[in-house]
Amino acid sequence: MTADFHALRINEKRLVARIEALGKIGALEGGGVCRLALTDAEKLGRDHLVSEMKSLGLSVEIDAIGNIFGTRPGARSGPVVMIGSHIDTVATGGLYDGVLGVLAGLEVIATLNEAGIKTDCPITVAAFTNEEGARFSPDMLGSLVYVGGLSADEALDTIGIDGSRLGAELNRIGYNGKDSGPKEIRAYFELHIEQGPILEDEGIEIGAVAGVQGISWTELTIRGRSAHAGATPMRLRHDAGLAAARITVGVRELIDQVGPEQVTTVGATTLSPNLVNVVAEKAVLTIDMRNPDEAKLQQAEALLSALIKQVAEEEGVEIERRILARFEPVAFDNSLINQVESQALELGLSCRGMYSGAGHDAQMIARRAPAAMIFVPSHKGISHNITEYTKPTDLSNGANVLLNVIVSSANPVPM
Ligand code: HGY
Ligand code: MN
Ligand code: MN
Repeated sequence: MTADFHALRINEKRLVARIEALGKIGALEGGGVCRLALTDAEKLGRDHLVSEMKSLGLSVEIDAIGNIFGTRPGARSGPVVMIGSHIDTVATGGLYDGVLGVLAGLEVIATLNEAGIKTDCPITVAAFTNEEGARFSPDMLGSLVYVGGLSADEALDTIGIDGSRLGAELNRIGYNGKDSGPKEIRAYFELHIEQGPILEDEGIEIGAVAGVQGISWTELTIRGRSAHAGATPMRLRHDAGLAAARITVGVRELIDQVGPEQVTTVGATTLSPNLVNVVAEKAVLTIDMRNPDEAKLQQAEALLSALIKQVAEEEGVEIERRILARFEPVAFDNSLINQVESQALELGLSCRGMYSGAGHDAQMIARRAPAAMIFVPSHKGISHNITEYTKPTDLSNGANVLLNVIVSSANPVPM
């Protein structure tokens, strides 16, 4: 039986068509997609996904945080083999981030249906709520709730960057589900674009992901005093804008002390009153720090604390700190990683081990079940950008590796 299913391949044209069809929902002028979590555009994306799942004969469950699960029954009930990712995007998203993992899961199901292959274990395709964390923090919120890392009630009370309450938005779009989703997971696989340059630079087709680096997200609210930009002597100013700028530069410079693995980003800064001739009285900025080494990430956080204290004293401003997300580095399951490598090699694809720079739902599922990821190249390493691109052969290479690891994990039943 194993030999037979190994001859199976997904339908590349159909996979690309699925991705392009979903990409039309929330499409931006000039390319790219904006389907921020729980917005009208994402609701339409969810509706589209649910109808695709039903057309493949999957039974669909929606849980209390809006995670969507489509399950193909196995010869036996019990622990499922799960394929997951997300369909929400950042505001300047591409066609593939998250979407590839969910739609390749549907493509695996379609291929098995066409071949009439049954499996011992049920197979579930999951789309998790608010993976991006762009509208509501933290990121990977839906999968974190699903594995019990955050209570649904707490998650539902999260306030977004636009002041909306997550639970109200979930009710508004009709995805406040009552189902529990699969209770037990035998193995979890996530296919995802790399979102960095390594695979393309090295000409490697498949990444067997060993784990995900640690993430530390902080929001700072800096309060100074608004003043006349012309009449106020520099020595009398308490300039929130200058304090924000000093912290932005300092966050970049701390890398020199922590080491080259450290990455830091100030992605969002707002000043108020944000006027040409008024010294800013308030600044709100976000700081994204990541490192594969937990001790180094803590060192970066300690350096940030010292920087905040120094700037507050020297500029005479108050600085309030709010933690938006904090996840330690995660290692995936070695036997599943080996399966990804061996299936890639069996398919004649080049493969290398690597770490993920981006966060993924797999890092949350890994708290409760064996999990691993499959990466495919991102053109020029670009992602979270409307020009994100992965060529069709890379998409189908990844989906074929996914097909093989899923079937072998779910135990194909002899015909
Ligand atoms: O932030 C991340 O790494 C992911 O895109 N949510
Ligand atoms: Mn993603
Ligand atoms: Mn992303």
